[in-house]
Amino acid sequence: MDTEKDPSCNKVPLFEKADFPVGVAVDFAKLIRDEAYRNLIISQFNSITAEQSMKASFIHPARDAYNFSETDQLIEFCKKHNKRLHGHTLVWYKGNAKWMDKFKGDKDAWDQVLKEHIHTIVGHCRGNVKSWDVLNEAFNDDGSLRQNVWLKNIGEEYIEKCFRYAAEADPAALLFYNDFDLESRPEKLDAVLKYLGRLKAKGVKIDGIGMQMHTNVNFPYITDINMAAMEVEAHGFLVHYSEFDISLVKAGTLWMMDKHLLKRQGSRMKEIVAGYRRLGSKSRFGITMWGLSDADSWLYDKNDHDRPLLFDKRYKVKPAYCGFLEALTE
Ligand code: XIL
Repeated sequence: MDTEKDPSCNKVPLFEKADFPVGVAVDFAKLIRDEAYRNLIISQFNSITAEQSMKASFIHPARDAYNFSETDQLIEFCKKHNKRLHGHTLVWYKGNAKWMDKFKGDKDAWDQVLKEHIHTIVGHCRGNVKSWDVLNEAFNDDGSLRQNVWLKNIGEEYIEKCFRYAAEADPAALLFYNDFDLESRPEKLDAVLKYLGRLKAKGVKIDGIGMQMHTNVNFPYITDINMAAMEVEAHGFLVHYSEFDISLVKAGTLWMMDKHLLKRQGSRMKEIVAGYRRLGSKSRFGITMWGLSDADSWLYDKNDHDRPLLFDKRYKVKPAYCGFLEALTE
């Protein structure tokens, strides 16, 4: 069945039409080797997040070894093409290097590891990476703190320390807390806002919240998404839809694929982007798609060839792209 026939629009430079930065998560190897991939990114997006290259497991593979090769090339790429490079992510329990999970030491030794890690990476990128997901996924669904090696060994002050160390290494950088399901789990959002609000009141620099926005074609309700974003804004944080995708999969199986499903994805895309544009212009850090084409998505292999993004595997625009574009021009 040809479900991708006749999307209602043509490819235009998306970011030029938008009144906020439009980003994409990039696969470094494809960016270097695949010209079509690279050119589409250059023409459509003005903000870049590395899908892997800046995660601890890659960038800090041993206690005394850092691997900045991909980061430095991304910095050059972004300078050359006038793109913003958003740093993702300094501290994430799933992105830890193996040596971190095995490290043994007392609280001070762990604190030293955290400090060196953040100071070295942010210091290296200072001036070139002007925003960071400092801490990723530190809360559970119910709003309690997620168990991880930092919490276990340093205590909950690790959260404050992450932001303090990042600000020390680059006082001008915008610092984000990043997490998923903030738009669908009010208890989680509430806990995050209260916690970060308390730190801010103590003078800790936290500029924004990354709402990952791994959504699907039926869930969550648009009103819940919009209300959550407005709440984040009302608490004085920049709002980044930081890893946006709209999955067509439920419980591991693709919903019955018919022409309506991709259209529905398009209309949801339009509503979500339109809702984002109703935030104040100063609060809109941007919307970042978590991958370029459907086949590049982290959900493609995991989920039965899911199709959650703006372009199909041949880089043709999908109704989702047209929905995004329509929301920008209305
Ligand atoms: C994912 C990547 O997309 C995958 O390719 C990788 O195998 C695992 O990480 N939340 C995040 C992202 O903050 O860093 C994750 O990215 C997706 C979930």
